[in-house]
Amino acid sequence: MRAIPLALTYDDVLIRPKKTTLLSRSQAITKTKLTKKISLNIPIVSANMDTITEAKMAITLARLGGIGIIHRFMTIEDNVEEIKKVKRAQNFIITDPYIVDPFRTIKEAKEFSAEKGVSGLLVANGDRKLKGILSRRDLSLARDDSQLVYEIMTSRNKLVVGNKTTTFDQARDLLRENRIEKLPLVDEDDVIVGLITSADIKNLTAYPLANIDEKGQLIVGGSVGVRGDYLERAQALAEAGADVLVIDIAHGHSEMMFNALKKIKELLPEMEVIAGNVATAEGARDLCEWGADALKVGVGPGTACITRLVAGAGVPQLTAVMEAAEVAKKFGVPIIADGGIQKSGDIVKALGAGADTVMIGGLFAGTDETPGLLMSRGEKKYKVYRGSASFAVAQRRQTVNQEKKNLNEVVPEGVESTIPYKGSLTELVGQLVGGLKSGMSYTNSHTISELQMNADFVQITNAGLRESGPHDLQEVK
Ligand code: XMP
Repeated sequence: MRAIPLALTYDDVLIRPKKTTLLSRSQAITKTKLTKKISLNIPIVSANMDTITEAKMAITLARLGGIGIIHRFMTIEDNVEEIKKVKRAQNFIITDPYIVDPFRTIKEAKEFSAEKGVSGLLVANGDRKLKGILSRRDLSLARDDSQLVYEIMTSRNKLVVGNKTTTFDQARDLLRENRIEKLPLVDEDDVIVGLITSADIKNLTAYPLANIDEKGQLIVGGSVGVRGDYLERAQALAEAGADVLVIDIAHGHSEMMFNALKKIKELLPEMEVIAGNVATAEGARDLCEWGADALKVGVGPGTACITRLVAGAGVPQLTAVMEAAEVAKKFGVPIIADGGIQKSGDIVKALGAGADTVMIGGLFAGTDETPGLLMSRGEKKYKVYRGSASFAVAQRRQTVNQEKKNLNEVVPEGVESTIPYKGSLTELVGQLVGGLKSGMSYTNSHTISELQMNADFVQITNAGLRESGPHDLQEVK
């Protein structure tokens, strides 16, 4: 008979504590690699699932130091908008600010700013020479909506402006000293070349761990499959500003992945591409050889996954991560441990097993930042969480993505569930990062790469697992 190896997951092990030289948790540095070229300040990635990541999640998580990967179960146009929303959330300089013509009505200007989600507009004719600003305050003082923009705007002679060489610190001082919210930047002919807002300056200082690109914009990922419109989607997401693309299929160790990876790399040679999912050393080796810039590891560990029940295939997650990481390290390709993270200790174990980041779905479900309605049942509030291979998502793909699959033939490998409302993602991530830093201290790890080397696991029994949680407490009635 063939020998059957043992495979373990997070709850099967603990990490042996070591003598530590860390004086406090604050000395633990959580910076890590998402892909060969992209770094993150915390090792947390939100899952590209339709009940987890759209722009709101991606904005909050990038500000906290992680990254969101926007799901693909929407039209390409909507997908592009979600990426753009993240990119527009903050900037050093807005290079192409929204401009309104001085002869438009206040009604039109109000509609334009509502559509673009901005609170004020620069005023100029087609020559883009600055005529004024239409601020929130100007709008509130308008007599009626039929007035024209130039009648109520703050005109050019009253404006403080900067130019192409204005630095971040100079802009902050000008905004502060003059108690203004917007600093238009103009060239020697008074033509608008940019805009710096006090909101952007506040954001840049309020989120010291934010992952930003060279324009000061938050970084964000998009995702694609391996069939249908995937190349068109990849191109559109790249043009919208996506910093990274995930090619995400349930069984990533496949010829379809090979083809998709090759074609996307040909189409977008500069794009960082994450490929997955795999759960073995062979899968990891092939994806690295095929050119992936990071690997997503995990077949069936997810909260809403039933792949292992339906297909009988998968590898318990700790073993999968260890196997894949050992191979990927030789190629210099980072690993994302995807699925099954239920508590901060699981993040410490995943990174200790060799992962560089973790991808989280279920644990983030029910937070304010996830898409979907907040439902009430009696006193309690809920949000929906569902697997990407669930029947509900298959239905969504048929209507929104126009996929031609016969729903009677769908064999779901994911389920749908309601999750109690959890409030803000920020607090939850704060707890997770605090737990990670504590784990780094227990293993004498100042950095994530030290944690990857220092974590020595012990296998535990059911009694050990029981002992690890709160137990034998008597409830006072
Ligand atoms: P967690 O445990 O964080 O896992 O909820 C999120 C990851 O689960 C994967 N995923 C699925 N796996 N059937 C599966 O077998 C599904 O329907 C499904 N939907 C999501 C995915 O890798 C995600 O990041």
